[in-house]
Amino acid sequence: MKRTIIITGGAGFIGNHVVRLFVNKYPEHNIINLDKLTYAGNLANLKDVEDKPNYKFVKMDICDFEGVYKLMQDAHVDGIIHLAAESHVDRSIKDPFTFARTNVMGTLSLLQAAKLYWESQPERWEGKLFYHISTDEVYGALELTNPEGVIPPFSTKASSGKHHLAYGDKFFTEDLKYQPHSPYSASKASSDHFVRAFHDTYGMPTVVTNCSNNYGPYQFPEKLIPLFINNIRHRKPLPVYGKGENVRDWLYVEDHARAIDTIFHHGTVAETYNIGGFNEWKNIDIIRLLIRTVDRQLGRAEGEDENLITFVTDRAGHDMRYAIDSRKLQRELGWEPSLQFEEGIEKTVRWYLDNQEWMDNVTSGDYMKYYDDMYSNR
Ligand code: NAD
Ligand code: DAU
Repeated sequence: MKRTIIITGGAGFIGNHVVRLFVNKYPEHNIINLDKLTYAGNLANLKDVEDKPNYKFVKMDICDFEGVYKLMQDAHVDGIIHLAAESHVDRSIKDPFTFARTNVMGTLSLLQAAKLYWESQPERWEGKLFYHISTDEVYGALELTNPEGVIPPFSTKASSGKHHLAYGDKFFTEDLKYQPHSPYSASKASSDHFVRAFHDTYGMPTVVTNCSNNYGPYQFPEKLIPLFINNIRHRKPLPVYGKGENVRDWLYVEDHARAIDTIFHHGTVAETYNIGGFNEWKNIDIIRLLIRTVDRQLGRAEGEDENLITFVTDRAGHDMRYAIDSRKLQRELGWEPSLQFEEGIEKTVRWYLDNQEWMDNVTSGDYMKYYDDMYSNR
């Protein structure tokens, strides 16, 4: 079926992979990338698709309710995949208002625009979908009940490498109570509630997914993996929060994009799906893996940059462990990660080292000047 889909936040890290996948895989769909281009949005991430006939970029704030409503009417939009958000926990600790505005009010503005437009159509909700991308952080923090790690009860391709441990007995399942701790996760939790409320109150077809930590190309270098790859390359200190004992469950970003594609086309309305790799790593172990990999790829002695590790004051309210149970998605829709973690890290380090110009533009802020010129007359 031919569709017109708005993907919000398509110029960001995960969004650009979703846009690329949909534009290339579905030439019959019209894909509209709606993005405000904050510091985290970068159109250079989408150079390879910008001239495709089924792709269009619209610079817009999701909080601009009237703009979104008009776009939906003009383009006859029948699907929304909503990724636009403020996404960095550390920023949310410094500036929670921006997170409430974009993540809560912005999501509500999109929901309300979609509701008014879809309800005005003769077929109403038929063939429509509002797909909201959320995070595992809404479930709060799991405990580190097995600090040395045990063989996990489940595994996937992502966790099939040398490192294959679980650091606790509990996992995030779809039926868990929300217990967000950071302003970021509180704002995402609130937006999830609004999406479900629009289904329960008005009957809007919605779906929500909660994913674990993504890694891969085009991630803004404020997040652990790209920041540390760049710092190792330039022999700058690696600021490890606390003792580096915190655990995250890592998924290659293209595997997340594939899951979004599967769920958008085959998921059940009103359901929630957790997406993750059963691939838990302590931060300090990832950091050592990154040091070895960058050193090797740059022709340095493996591990020679370990002295860059610098333990710093912990993040306020730092969640100890995230670990997703994604068996529902595997069981019901047959999705599995395609990449084993060490392979994914090898590819990711190679990408950042090969794309130093992208990194330099992002870290210098030059890409923002390009937007200022491009949009100054609009
Ligand atoms: P990102 O910060 O890299 O990108 C966010 C994008 O949203 C940017 O292009 C930015 O310009 C755009 N944006 C921000 N505010 C906007 C607004 N008001 N109007 C329109 N566009 C706006 O984020 P990401 O890491 O790609 O995350 C995308 C989504 O996935 C977020 O909703 C996030 O909560 C969720 N998520 C991320 C991860 C992860 O590991 N990165 C994991 C699970 C879920
Ligand atoms: O779990 C999904 C979430 O993963 C997403 O919803 C968020 O958008 C995404 O940013 C990510 O959140 P984290 O806080 O887990 O990611 P971050 O890369 O900021 O940090 C990963 C871990 O590394 C975390 O335990 C904090 C630690 N860290 C991070 C940075 C930036 C450090 O020790 N030093 C650092 O400099």
